[in-house]
Amino acid sequence: MQKKIIVVGNWKQNPPTLDKAKQLFIDIRNGCKAKYSDIGVVIVPPVPFISELRRLSPSGRLLLGAQDVSLYDVGAHTGEVAPTMLESVGAEFIIVGHSERRANGETDEVVQKKVAQVVRRGRAILCVGEHERGKADYFGVVDTQLRTALQGLPPAQVKRVVIAYEPVWAIGTGQTATVEMVEEMKIFIKKTLTNLFDRKIADAVPVLYGGSVKANNTEDLLRFSNVDGFLVGGASLKATEFINIIATAQKTYGEKNS
Ligand code: PGA
Repeated sequence: MQKKIIVVGNWKQNPPTLDKAKQLFIDIRNGCKAKYSDIGVVIVPPVPFISELRRLSPSGRLLLGAQDVSLYDVGAHTGEVAPTMLESVGAEFIIVGHSERRANGETDEVVQKKVAQVVRRGRAILCVGEHERGKADYFGVVDTQLRTALQGLPPAQVKRVVIAYEPVWAIGTGQTATVEMVEEMKIFIKKTLTNLFDRKIADAVPVLYGGSVKANNTEDLLRFSNVDGFLVGGASLKATEFINIIATAQKTYGEKNS
């Protein structure tokens, strides 16, 4: 997918049943007209729903992803799901290092192994972000997360990574980061990628923002912070709100580039 803007809906552990997941997916699909041609939309449901939902979008207008992956390849790892399995049911993007997984004990080293597994064939959405602002060294936190996660990756595989800047204090709190915060972090991430690899690679890696994204803050974030899209949690569970985010992203992108 080489879309200009990527909008990802991370459904987390929702909705409770396959029927409800299908209904939400269909509502989003029906609202996602071809006119939103610059926006790549990725729905990231819980694993048991992926293959059924994949069938509901045969044209691939909505892409699918997964929220996590095993750090192991196939084998004797009870309860784990390998990247090849996710890929074979239609998950083209895999979120790695979401703060809700890091809160369950996932370290930067585990994140690094997972990213390495995913980008051998597919695309990883690598989440980074600080817990607090104020006097905290938030650039230092993001720097370490990036350096560790991308360590040792061949340049061709780095191009399969999408970075999602998700300040933890903004997730699910209604407290969105300001456009200035997002813009300076995007610049910092691009600089770090340039130092680790080179400018060409840094240019090829999209940087998304996530943390209380809603239809009413999409325009400012896209217009002024220059992000390449959004990772949306809560608002992706309401079809109308999510479609409004996509529509606003298309409109703003069109205006910026006309
Ligand atoms: P939120 O979640 O949009 O509900 O803040 C974002 C995320 O966790 O990816």
